[in-house]
Amino acid sequence: MRAQVGIVGAGPAGLLLAHLLHAAKVSVVVLEQRSREYVEGRVRAGVLERTTVELMNRLGIGERVAREGLVHGGTTLCLDGEPIHLDFADLTSGGAVTVYGQSEVMKDLGQAADERGIPIIYEATDVALHDLHSSRPWLTWWRHGTPQRLDCDFIAGCDGFHGVSRGYIPADALQTFERVYPFGWLGILADVPPCNPELVYANHAHGFALASMRSPTRSRCYLQCAADDRVEEWSDDRFWDEFSVRIGSSFTSTLTRGPSFEKSIAPLRSFVCTTMRWGRLFLAGDAAHIVPPTGAKGLNLAAADVIVLGDALAAFYNSNDTSGIEDYSRRALDRVWKAERFSWWLTNLTHRFPDMDGFDRQMQIAEFAYLRRSRAAQVSFAENYVGLPLGS
Ligand code: PHB
Repeated sequence: MRAQVGIVGAGPAGLLLAHLLHAAKVSVVVLEQRSREYVEGRVRAGVLERTTVELMNRLGIGERVAREGLVHGGTTLCLDGEPIHLDFADLTSGGAVTVYGQSEVMKDLGQAADERGIPIIYEATDVALHDLHSSRPWLTWWRHGTPQRLDCDFIAGCDGFHGVSRGYIPADALQTFERVYPFGWLGILADVPPCNPELVYANHAHGFALASMRSPTRSRCYLQCAADDRVEEWSDDRFWDEFSVRIGSSFTSTLTRGPSFEKSIAPLRSFVCTTMRWGRLFLAGDAAHIVPPTGAKGLNLAAADVIVLGDALAAFYNSNDTSGIEDYSRRALDRVWKAERFSWWLTNLTHRFPDMDGFDRQMQIAEFAYLRRSRAAQVSFAENYVGLPLGS
C-alpha cells in the first residue's frame, strides 16, 4: 500500500488530520490498533472550544454538533459551597464553549470518513515505524494474522500517550516534561438531568467535584478520588452522597440521583514531549502531550495541533513550501504550553492535595477571593477556558 501520509491512531487527532489532508487532496491511510466500537465508545471530556467547532465546520462535519451541542456562555467555580459565576459572553466579548462528548465527535468523524472513502484500518496490531529519517518512511502491522506494509512520505503519530510512535524518537533527541498528580478522577454517566444548566467546578474539604453533562437529560459527574481507588469501591449511592456534599448547597436541591451506566477512574497527568517532529515523524494530540482533565483541553489541543500540521503538510504538497513542516513543533508547542499552564493552574486551584499545608490552602483561598472580585482575573480565566485564539 502507498499513501502520502500514514497516520497511526484513529482517535480525534488522527481522524481530524485524515479529514484535513483528504480535503487538501493529500492521500492518507489511518491505522488503529483498537476496534471501531472501542474508539467510538471511549468516554472522554466533552467541552469543545470554538476553534474545534470551527474545524469541524471547515471539514463539513459540524452539522450534528450545531444541532445537538449545548452552547455554554459561562461556568461556575465553587469554594466550600460559595459559588462564583463567570460569564464568558461578557468577559470575552461573546465567547462560549460547546458541550458535546468526544464519543460523538468520533462518530461524526467516522461516518464522514466512510462517506468520503478515507481508509481507516481498525484492529491493526504490532504497528511498527521504519526509516523515519529517510524521505521514504514506512509502516508495518499485522491484521488478522497477515503482515501488511504502507509506504509513505510522512508519518503522523496520533496514537495517544501509550502509543508506539513517540518511542521511535531516540532518547538523545527526545525532551519531555512531566507532572503526575497524587489523585485520580472518578467519573460517572447517568441519565438524570444536570444539577445546573452550566458546569460547576467545586473545591471542597473532601476534594474536588465537577458537575458536567452530555445533554439536558444526561449528567457526567466527577469526584477527585485516591490514585489507587478502584471503581468497585464506589457504589452509586456512595458516589451521589459524596457528590452532593462536595458540589455545595447551591446545587444539592436541584441534584437528581440515578443509576450510573458508566463509571471509571482516570489518573491525572501533565506531560509534554517538546520533540513533536523527528525526521519524517510528527506527533500530534496525546502522543505528544497530556493535560489533566480540569478545563477539558485535551481534545481541543489535539485539534489545534492538527490544524497546524494539516496546513503545513498541505503547503508542502500544494506549493512545495517546507516552512510549516520545519516550524511545526515550535508553532504547536506555543499553544500546548499555554493550555498546560491553564490546566495545571485550574487543577491546583480546585483540588485538595494530600500533602497540602496551611500555606497552600491559603493560596487557594486568596486565588478564589481574587477571582471573585477582579474582572482582570475573571477575563484571564474566561479567555483561557473558552480557548485562546489560534496563533496567539
Ligand atoms: C466532561 O464533561 O467530561 C468534562 C467537562 C469539563 C471538564 C472535564 C470533563 O473540565
